[in-house]
Amino acid sequence: MVRPLIELERVAHRYPGGHEALRDCSLAIRPGQRHALLGTNGAGKTTLLQHLNGLLRPTQGRLLWHGQAVDYRRAGLLELRQRVGLVFQNPERQLFCAQVDEDVSFGPLNLGLDEATVRVRVAQALAAVGLQAHARSAVHHLSFGQKKRVCIAGVLAMAPELLVLDEPMAGLDPEAQASLSALLDGLAEQGVTVLLSTHDVDFAYRWADELHLMAAGRCIASGPAPWLAQQAQTWREAGLPVPSVLALHQILVARGVLPLQPAPRGLDALLEGLRGDLAFSPTKGLHT
Ligand SMILES: Nc1ncnc2c1ncn2[C@@H]1O[C@H](COP(=O)(O)OP(=O)(O)OP(=O)(O)O)[C@@H](O)[C@H]1O
Ligand SMILES: [Mg+2]
Repeated sequence: MVRPLIELERVAHRYPGGHEALRDCSLAIRPGQRHALLGTNGAGKTTLLQHLNGLLRPTQGRLLWHGQAVDYRRAGLLELRQRVGLVFQNPERQLFCAQVDEDVSFGPLNLGLDEATVRVRVAQALAAVGLQAHARSAVHHLSFGQKKRVCIAGVLAMAPELLVLDEPMAGLDPEAQASLSALLDGLAEQGVTVLLSTHDVDFAYRWADELHLMAAGRCIASGPAPWLAQQAQTWREAGLPVPSVLALHQILVARGVLPLQPAPRGLDALLEGLRGDLAFSPTKGLHT
């Protein structure tokens, strides 16, 4: 069994006002996988993600990074923040330089890298998010989606081992979502572990290797997407619908149109199964 990259062990987090946003949460992020954290508004996703780079600290329980308890002293935190890149839900909270390339170079310059290396990293990061042409643009002139991409570039320029994105798809148009999803796939293929939070059950099920479900501050279930997606009771507990492609597939299975296996991960796969099935048995499905 591969050792997790980062683990939460029975973590609780109580905000200064007294609200307990995380309760007895245990979660393991295995390396080299695409992970999605799902939960309704207020379930505790942002609170959990902000623990992963030490921005928030557990009020109970602990975090392990490569099996070692996180060291919250200055040097330990700096190291954790280099290795875990966090992209905030709201880009306005993350961007603070006037010009795009200044913002993206801020992190690597802070790491003490020389200027030539920083220039290369910034160019690569901007190319990865498709913003090379905007290197010299004023940040406040960019659209919301472009600002999000600048934030992602800023984190990529730090070459993190774990890339954490809080609701990266929210507010992006379908084309921007597809290109971000392709970018994240490419990073995962290069060995970067990616964890994102989302309410979009269909996207999470299609994209992620592992799903993690939260409800009311608790981590209620984790597992491989094809397995967890079938646990209807767990989705009810999380207050989320099961992925719609599975709901549709189950109806088609009940009507004898499609076999139970393989369960489709997306609409394309469902349509492919349907076309294949109809090709073998042309009358099947006509009366459904
Ligand atoms: N700084 C804070 N002080 C006090 N309570 C907070 C703070 N931030 C969040 N909370 C509370 O903690 C709970 C979890 O919030 P969190 O932002 O982690 O949820 P979330 O799952 O990210 O929700 P969303 O989907 O809306 O982004 C909520 O009840 C929220 O009101
Ligand atoms: Mg949130």
